[in-house]
Amino acid sequence: MSRPTLVLIDGVAFAPEEARISVLDRGFLYGDGVFETLRVYRGVPFALDEHLDRWLSSAARLEIALPLPREALRRELIEAVRRSGLEEAFLRAMLTRGEGPLGLDVSTLETPARRVVFVGPVQPPPPEAYARGVGVVLYRGVRPTDGNVAEGAKVTNYVVAVLATTQARRAGAHEALLVDARDRILEGASSSFFLVRDGVLITAPESAGVLAGITRAHVLSAARAAGLPCEERAPGPEDLAAADEAFLTSTIREVLPVVRVGDQVVGAGVPGAVTRRLASAHAVQVSRYIDEFSD
Ligand SMILES: Cc1ncc(COP(=O)(O)O)c(C=O)c1O
Repeated sequence: MSRPTLVLIDGVAFAPEEARISVLDRGFLYGDGVFETLRVYRGVPFALDEHLDRWLSSAARLEIALPLPREALRRELIEAVRRSGLEEAFLRAMLTRGEGPLGLDVSTLETPARRVVFVGPVQPPPPEAYARGVGVVLYRGVRPTDGNVAEGAKVTNYVVAVLATTQARRAGAHEALLVDARDRILEGASSSFFLVRDGVLITAPESAGVLAGITRAHVLSAARAAGLPCEERAPGPEDLAAADEAFLTSTIREVLPVVRVGDQVVGAGVPGAVTRRLASAHAVQVSRYIDEFSD
């Protein structure tokens, strides 16, 4: 991602350097908020309704009341893209619980939930990353939402993901994969993870507490449509050792081949044929969506 060129706060547009929210905002004080990252192609926010569904379901899990009806939020996101004037962009939509005195009690809130929308030029990984594949590291960690009612919600507290990414960058790797106490690989710090073993596509199920990745869902449906067997189970070390291919998916990265996990080379150490096929299938899905989009 990159720096935004436009910020909307509660629907009002600001240049990023002018955009301010209160220090009493609970998003700032407690990481008490939810967010979405969308990718805009040819001026159209891809998978807009799926992102809205996930955003609103994250808010519902945190019992954050919506400040506007869904349709008004949808219009606001489309309008933010239009105002940015950008054709290829990222859009980040945030909802914090709002503002009030210090303290955890939500009954003291003085404002409705606050909306902050960022739009800026998108910066996906460079073409070499797709051509050669990237390295990732394994990271053991438990996130604030793991194993509780907020599991699977996209909450603004990404502190474990930040630490995992810091470790990955120190090791010269692109991403960190979160591993649970049973040695199962769940997902990347900010991506979904897949591997291909003996012609079967394997990725952790949502029941393992991973984010319901929107790119993940599109890739799984493209794989099923192509007749590729898919297993939703969290891969373990033996799957990694026997993997022929691996890749990450996310809104910004789309489908990014993984050729190394720690010191271990995946398969032949180059992006594989299944990964390439799914990346093309995803690109076709995106293109069709953009062609057919109407607001
Ligand atoms: C923890 C996590 N998993 C997976 C993803 C990928 O989800 P999506 O494909 O919806 O961008 C993200 C994206 O931000 C993420 O933060």
